[in-house]
Amino acid sequence: MGQVSDHLRRLGAALERAEYTIDGVRELLGPVAGGALARDEIVPALRATGGGSPLEALVRLFWLQVPVPADTFLDDFVAAGLAESSGGEVRARLRVEPVEGAGYAVSDLKVRPGSGGTVRPDHVVGAGGASANLARLAVHSPVDNALDIGTGCGVQALHLAGRAGRITATDVNPRALELAAMSAGLSGVANVEFVEGPLLEPVAGRRFDLIVSNPPFVVAPPGRRYVYRESGMPGDEFCRRLVTGAPALLNEGGHCRFLANWLQVRGVPWEERVGGWVERSGCDAWVVQRDVQDPAEYAELWLRDSCEAGTAEYRERYGAWLDHFERHGVTGIGFGWIALRKPAGGPPATRVEELRHAVEEPVGAYVEEILDGLVGAREFSTGCGKLVRAAAGIVQEQIGPPGAEDPERIVLRQEHRLRRAAGVGTVEAALAGVCDGTLPLEPLLAAIAQLIGQDAGQVRAHADAVLPELIADGFFVLG
Ligand SMILES: C[S@@+](CC[C@H](N)C(=O)[O-])C[C@H]1O[C@@H](n2cnc3c(N)ncnc32)[C@H](O)[C@@H]1O
Repeated sequence: MGQVSDHLRRLGAALERAEYTIDGVRELLGPVAGGALARDEIVPALRATGGGSPLEALVRLFWLQVPVPADTFLDDFVAAGLAESSGGEVRARLRVEPVEGAGYAVSDLKVRPGSGGTVRPDHVVGAGGASANLARLAVHSPVDNALDIGTGCGVQALHLAGRAGRITATDVNPRALELAAMSAGLSGVANVEFVEGPLLEPVAGRRFDLIVSNPPFVVAPPGRRYVYRESGMPGDEFCRRLVTGAPALLNEGGHCRFLANWLQVRGVPWEERVGGWVERSGCDAWVVQRDVQDPAEYAELWLRDSCEAGTAEYRERYGAWLDHFERHGVTGIGFGWIALRKPAGGPPATRVEELRHAVEEPVGAYVEEILDGLVGAREFSTGCGKLVRAAAGIVQEQIGPPGAEDPERIVLRQEHRLRRAAGVGTVEAALAGVCDGTLPLEPLLAAIAQLIGQDAGQVRAHADAVLPELIADGFFVLG
């Protein structure tokens, strides 16, 4: 195993020397070919990689997945089983793609729409948009140990390698674990163990500081077909079990960061449904719905993903998907994030909300403070003795007819992080202007009351009513 790893590590180093990195590939392809590739069109990229340099050969071989002329520098990739050679040509057996700042992910070859290829049931998917979403959501500070459930090509383990002392990566698909081990080898990551098994079973009884998962969340008609995206459990049951079960494996203060899909069922508000999951977890929780698709959009997306669009069975499978959703009263499918934190004491604080706009990335860098805000808001009153400060990056907008002396509305807006906006009154606006966390709240509110000619008791009662939400929303921070 040591020898295999050394060999793979040397290959990883050769990929880096050839500048087969995200920046190197981006520079080689340029924006037009890069954009076309994002739409699974390879012709512009073929035209941009015709010069015969090692980087061009690697991009053609492992990214565009076309044969390249045999060359001695490719022999080691053939020996490692990543490519095969015949008739003077080398073809990729597996896909090897650079991961931003984290090494190389090995997965099955991508099946491109219109290529005539089919996706095998145990296909191991490469690093995609959802993988990058989860990497940005994951905890960004160091942890002793981390668990990645459904590791696939191992991309999350690669991202975690620099900040977790030890990583455990699980998957139900043994091929995924083989390829994930190759990813770790190529990337020089040695602090990861791979364990086979479903959901939480392979790590029962163990404890972790951080658990991440980009789970097989796709809700499909019965009869599992693609393990890389479907769990085989009905509806969104896999995500529910993950959310309710994983916290038992957390150390106190530990985190779960998950992507998930959830069903929107006729007559049941989605916030109640998913809120019920996180309540059962017993954790501080922040659930964000980032997108919703109707049943038809959802079926089309996943039929395209498995290259079934345009096949003879397409209409029948599309219909089966819609039948399934109709039978279960599904009106839409939500996609989003779930962040959980095992509380050190006290009842958990939770928030379930929809945020469709672009937020500051990486979200993982400030999730902990969002959870702190939820906990702080729940316990807050103006008499609680805590210092309060306006969050950094808050601006005020005054809205009213041109030339008017007094604004009709005042809006506080966050220039960073979640970029929320909140309509506020004069008291909150004045407070945001003066509270920097050095003076107690009560004298500040008394001074504001005097300034605006209102009764101090009324101003305090108003602050008691409105500040908790502004704290939960991150406009004010408790000291
Ligand atoms: C969407 S992929 C995620 C891959 C990778 N972690 C990422 O972020 O891109 C989901 C993974 O879950 C695995 N999986 C499917 N069913 C599972 C189950 N019941 N228990 C654990 N893993 C499962 C699949 O094999 C697949 O590798």
